[in-house]
Amino acid sequence: MSEIEGSLLDPNVLECPFPLFRQLREEAPVRFMPELKMFYVTRYKDIRTVKRNPQIFSNDIYALGGSRTGPQAAAEAYRREHGWGRVSTLQRTDPPVHTLYRQLVDKAFTPRRVRTMVPYIEGVVNDLIDAFIDQGECDFVRDFAVPLPCTVIADQLGVPRADVLKIKIWSDAMLGPGGHHMDEAQALECARLVVEAQHYFAEVIEDRRRQPRDDIISDLVHAEVDGRRLDMYELQDLLDQLITGGNETTTNAIGSGMMLLLKHPEQMQYLREHPEGIKNFVEEVLRVETPVLHLFRIVLEDTELGGVKLPKGSMVALGYAAANRDEDVFPDGETFDVCRHKAGAHLSFGSGPHFCPGASLGRQELLSGFTILLERLDNIRPADPDETYAHVPHSFLRGLKALDIRFEKAVQP
Ligand code: HEM
Repeated sequence: MSEIEGSLLDPNVLECPFPLFRQLREEAPVRFMPELKMFYVTRYKDIRTVKRNPQIFSNDIYALGGSRTGPQAAAEAYRREHGWGRVSTLQRTDPPVHTLYRQLVDKAFTPRRVRTMVPYIEGVVNDLIDAFIDQGECDFVRDFAVPLPCTVIADQLGVPRADVLKIKIWSDAMLGPGGHHMDEAQALECARLVVEAQHYFAEVIEDRRRQPRDDIISDLVHAEVDGRRLDMYELQDLLDQLITGGNETTTNAIGSGMMLLLKHPEQMQYLREHPEGIKNFVEEVLRVETPVLHLFRIVLEDTELGGVKLPKGSMVALGYAAANRDEDVFPDGETFDVCRHKAGAHLSFGSGPHFCPGASLGRQELLSGFTILLERLDNIRPADPDETYAHVPHSFLRGLKALDIRFEKAVQP
């Protein structure tokens, strides 16, 4: 057995974490990683065990008295003073409290509702392509992968189109201090932007209280939890999660999807000839380039996982990206294969009570996006033949910084 070396926060590892994930899976599938101060779980079956036992592995990571420290604590104090401090609605609660909030969000993006949104999503996709198709080139991340989910979530929330890019800036700020190494000044700048977003949404919330419309904010403002209306803290927290959840992850998956097609032109050609395979391609992108590398749980009582003792109070990182290449479930798991059998068994949306409520919407954005891109753009190629596909160095999200592509306009039949 070789010694495991490498830190999950090392920029080179973040750029390509897969060799380290593989070594962990094979040699130490539940291992304490000092740089994270957490046990890192890399095997599929162990993650499923965690998900089946939320009473032991809790989402309420501050349940045992822990709290944010350093720059994150300063940012949090700024939020409390100038806006609305965090309360726990979805991500930081367990059933039965979680279930109350979750029912509200589940209604918004049921598979049935997402099916009715398909013509609308296709319209957004076509508008974005119209804006760059005549140039024969674009930065695919800036011009497509970012604005598609931002526009969709903004429209669903009832935010005017003119403010769509604010959603991206606010979302980056909401996720920033948790995922980037930041000093206090940078964390406070993020907090300032978050508070700006909160005041913006407070106005929208008050407006919808008076005049409900057909949008999610109106639904949330008028919904009841346990016989009462949600307060401003709860509404702000839910909106924070919808904005970050509905945006960054989908952007990253779309960017990765294009990267994988460029790296595997024969598979892109296959999909042009077999567009019915794009649905499976979407699952394979989510599996092999998992947008959320890992998420966290806290251990509420002494337990054991994968033969490793986990004392009460331990933090656990569920390595979705590592488990999605577990050879016990995905033979030849490191290989991208648009025809892979059961690609959709991946854990990219989590599982259990916190399974992503936006999964149907995210999937549809990818499906509509790539179907139309392959219909309307021919000969898609990297603008730079030596493209290195550099990723944003983020501790738990994986997405490209930029992706310059060239193409020809397809001759439509
Ligand atoms: C490809 C796109 C997406 C990916 C990969 C993704 C991934 C995830 C993951 C891994 C989780 C956490 C599961 C866990 O704790 O185990 C999650 C939760 C969540 N996602 Fe997504 N997501 C995507 C799209 C969306 C969209 C489009 C929305 C909203 C419109 C959304 C909203 C949320 C929310 C609100 C949660 C918290 C759910 C809870 O704690 O109950 N996500 N997502």
